Amino acid sequence: MVLDTLSTFIKKQLPVYLKKLPLPEKIGDFALLTVSDWLRLLPLLGILALLGYLTIRPFLPKKKKQRDSLINLKIQKENPKVVNEIDIEDLRSANVCYCRCWRSKTFPVCDKSHVKHNELTGDNVGPLILKKRIL
Ligand code: FES
Repeated sequence: MVLDTLSTFIKKQLPVYLKKLPLPEKIGDFALLTVSDWLRLLPLLGILALLGYLTIRPFLPKKKKQRDSLINLKIQKENPKVVNEIDIEDLRSANVCYCRCWRSKTFPVCDKSHVKHNELTGDNVGPLILKKRIL
């Protein structure tokens, strides 16, 4: 049924439609077309424009995926600004790593969550390491 209708349209109605189109023989004759002529050409021009777009679409530059624009996704979101203050005299161990990726579950201390973040996103963030010189 659908194929019959499509076949009839392509074999009978489409040629009749195309024959009646006011297609000019020369480029300059387009300027002589009336508004009514342009309206009759509109469906054909629309289909040609769509086919042209579909043809060149694979070659158009693709939009890059937008990476998350927020750096801090979950830490102290109730605060307008997250600030951590650490007295250098209170450092107990020789090395302390502080998170700079904002993914640590023990923020502000690094818990190595940056490793997973870097693998997932291709990012290259890492901790701030404070070293205490022991005399
Ligand atoms: Fe954030 Fe290590 S967990 S820098």
